[in-house]
Formats: sequence, C-alpha cells, structure tokens
Amino acid sequence: MRVLFVCLGNICRSPLAHAVLRHKAEGLDVVVDSCGTSGWHEGEPSNPMSVRTAAKHGIDMSDLRSRKLTRRDLQDFDLIIAMDSSNLRNIKKLGEPRGRLAMMREWDPHGPGDVPDPWSGPASGFDEVYSIVDRCCDALLDDLRP
Ligand code: 4NP
Repeated sequence: MRVLFVCLGNICRSPLAHAVLRHKAEGLDVVVDSCGTSGWHEGEPSNPMSVRTAAKHGIDMSDLRSRKLTRRDLQDFDLIIAMDSSNLRNIKKLGEPRGRLAMMREWDPHGPGDVPDPWSGPASGFDEVYSIVDRCCDALLDDLRP
C-alpha cells in the first residue's frame, strides 16, 4: 500500500502526517510519502514548528524535504490524501485518480473538514494539526491493516 499526503507547501501539514503515519505503520507493508501542490518550498526541510511538534511526541521528521506533486504521483500511489479542500481541487486539476483520492479528515472521528493551515498562525496551530493528524492516522491505519 502506497500512501501520499498532500498539502500546499509540503512543509507544515503533509510532512507531519507523513512522519506520524510512517511512525505508526512501522513493520507494516505501507509506503508513506508527502508533497505539496505548490513548489514554493521545494527542497526545504519542514517548518521548524512542525519538526518541534513531532519531536515532542517522539517522532523524528528531520529527514523530510519539500517536493512538488507530479502527474506521475497520481499513478504511483494507491491512496492520495489531501489536507484541505483547496489541495483537493488542485490535485484534481492535475488529474483524476479515481477512487484513490480522499480528504484527511474523512478518517477523523471528530468529523470531516479541512486540516487548518498553521503556516501564518500561532504556535498552537501546530499542536492542533498534530492532534488531528494523530487521530486520523490511527483510523487510517485501522483501514490499512490486513
Ligand atoms: P502547508 O503550509 O501547506 O501545510 O505546508 C503552508 C506552507 C507554506 C505556505 C502556505 C501554507 N506558503 O504560503 O508559502
């Protein structure tokens, strides 16, 4: 199973989801990756606040670097998960990965919606994103387990 998380910059939300699912799925046959619909931060490490938030929970994401979504990704992954509805629209502009495209909070026990963009907000936004991503990844993993 190949899972791709997608946000706008691939420095805040999708790399956090990438690191959290990678951590939780250790030992399972699950490949995890992430990217952004923009190439604005291509090659950059994740936002220091995302890295710090993950580290508080014992998760290392220092190896992750931002990259831009490609048309090829739409073929290569079994499950493509957008962080918000704007990301979802931008993915669809590149192609329509039928039956393999979802929104992250479809797995949220608290209900659907966007994973809020923490980029220009207060530090607490990153904790909120972590909480959402953590509980969504638990539910997602239940679906991915054989
Ligand atoms: P992300 O957050 O999509 O969760 O990585 C953002 C990162 C960068 C920008 C916006 C959102 N930006 O405008 O550069």
